[in-house]
Amino acid sequence: MRTTTRSRTRLRLAGALAAVLVAAGVATGPAAQAGEERHGGHHRTLADLAQRHGRYFGSATDNPELTDTAYTALLGKEFDQITPGNGMKWYATEPEPGVFDWTAGDEIVDLARANHQKVRGHTLVWHSQLPDWVTAREWTAAELRAVLKRHVQTEVRHYRGKVFAWDVVNEAFNEDGTYRESVFYKTLGPGYIADALRWAHQADPHVKLYLNDYNIEAVGPKSDAYYRLAKELKAQGVPLDGIGFQTHLALQYGYPDTLEDNLRRFSRLGLDTALTEVDIRMQLPADAEKLATQADWYQRLTESCLAVRRCVGITLWDYTDKYSWIPAFFEGEGAALPWDEQLAPKPAYFAIRAALARK
Ligand code: G3I
Repeated sequence: MRTTTRSRTRLRLAGALAAVLVAAGVATGPAAQAGEERHGGHHRTLADLAQRHGRYFGSATDNPELTDTAYTALLGKEFDQITPGNGMKWYATEPEPGVFDWTAGDEIVDLARANHQKVRGHTLVWHSQLPDWVTAREWTAAELRAVLKRHVQTEVRHYRGKVFAWDVVNEAFNEDGTYRESVFYKTLGPGYIADALRWAHQADPHVKLYLNDYNIEAVGPKSDAYYRLAKELKAQGVPLDGIGFQTHLALQYGYPDTLEDNLRRFSRLGLDTALTEVDIRMQLPADAEKLATQADWYQRLTESCLAVRRCVGITLWDYTDKYSWIPAFFEGEGAALPWDEQLAPKPAYFAIRAALARK
């Protein structure tokens, strides 16, 4: 069922009020604000609430943050899924040809296991954060194929049974739906995508294999390119299980109103979908109105995932503004996550709870 603007506004106000009460140290808990009960004396987490819908609710994290005990306490408690923000990327895992280093990725897998959280693997084939030895020379197709296959299969084998899904290929398309001219595309042609999926499947036949990208939340040239490719790959029997919608949104660009329809058309191809890197940035300074709009957007995207049967879960691209990638990449922007820099919940947090708490 679609939420009316009125009920959204109501929930938005409830969220804002709850945030004020929490900031003021008022004992009225968020659970009470969202109209829920406490469960066995415990505060229900986002993970608990998502599980009632058969979904997960996760967060990215990164190794340097793991010394922050207040941060890891919340990370370990509120979420049931973790994505390493950097630790499983090529530069980290194969810094020299054929020399593999699992230190960063393993640290996050171990922490997730200790907290009974599942892990999304991110990412095997990407044009960015490649080690110099991959980018600093010319390759023949045969050479690069061998290098790519070894990378994909060695990493997938290492994390077999430890990650439930892989972003096999990340960010393969341009905004206009043409293929991104990465070293892989230029050297191997578009077939590198099917090859990577097949190699990953050989190395772990049980793990879910995804293509993942940003700016594909709305129906448009870039998401159409994924739709066409996914259809083609399915028709050819290539092992593809899902599409990851990164969902890096920005208030100044508007909400992707076609998100739910878009998720649904991929479901109809027999694919899972997931919101894999959610954040909603704004121009700083944040104010009550921007935070309320942000909360509304978080609520809407949560409702959309819940409304589409094969949308399996939602991952925040870290949960606190303290560790968001945004300020370093977009000058003057930030405040993108549901917890602020002091790890206090923002209106967005209460809005997500409200969406998850509804029938
Ligand atoms: O490791 C170096 C460190 O040695 C050095 O001292 C420091 C100085 O800046 O930089 C460190 O590297 C940084 C790296 O993160 C690890 O922290 C890079 O500068 C920085 O560019 C890099 O940013 C990452 C970014 O991907 C690169 O594109 C972000 O943390 C990470 O959150 C972000 O994640 C991507 C997803 O993988 C794909 N989708 C988009 C998303 C946001 O860009």
